[in-house]
Amino acid sequence: MKIDIITLFPDMFKGPFDMSMLWKAQERGLAQIKLWDLREFGLGTRRTVDDTPYGGGDGMVLKPEPMVAAIEAAKAKNPGARVIAMTPRGHQYVQAKARQLAELPGLILIAGHYEGFDERIMTYVDEQLSIGDYVLTGGELPAMVVADSVVRLIPGVLGGEQSAHDESFSDPSLLEYPQYTRPVEFRGERVPDVLLNGHHAEIEKWRRQQAQERTREVRPDLQ
Ligand code: ADE
Repeated sequence: MKIDIITLFPDMFKGPFDMSMLWKAQERGLAQIKLWDLREFGLGTRRTVDDTPYGGGDGMVLKPEPMVAAIEAAKAKNPGARVIAMTPRGHQYVQAKARQLAELPGLILIAGHYEGFDERIMTYVDEQLSIGDYVLTGGELPAMVVADSVVRLIPGVLGGEQSAHDESFSDPSLLEYPQYTRPVEFRGERVPDVLLNGHHAEIEKWRRQQAQERTREVRPDLQ
């Protein structure tokens, strides 16, 4: 899976992408993540990427020319990729979408900044996604969220294939059941007996009940 990310702040991605699973996925050749610095496509000697909005209003708007040039440069290197703009105006990003995206040969993620994009950029975008009903300072964190959630679904990225399968949101109507590890007792709290007796069917049943209870309590909207 090839993931290209267009951003004004490529350095923001250094920590998250150079560690843990995202790093391992790249090391193993399962994901190729490339950052494109929008500034390099800026206009004139000042490499301008934004301007004031027509019609007035606060803030700056990302100009179409640099962004479309960056999208086209990324597309040339990642021809089958789906172009996705991160914006609070997009469709809500959910696990089912992560699974769809993980099947694709490539993604081009666009992280906006300032007050938004010139609308004409959307002609070159396949889809707009929001990671939730709150407004962040830019699309960088949302692009990281999408990249992380997609890469972990690529076969071979996680240790056991099962771990991506079991969790909350694989079944979008159920949250994950509680997990325990050693020691069997910690500050007076014991691991539930059912998990200690190794009875597979009972463990399954208990986990399902726990998942249902937790979902009823925390996310009744999912049921
Ligand atoms: N940019 C700013 N806020 C965002 C959000 N919630 N989702 C996607 N992109 C964003």
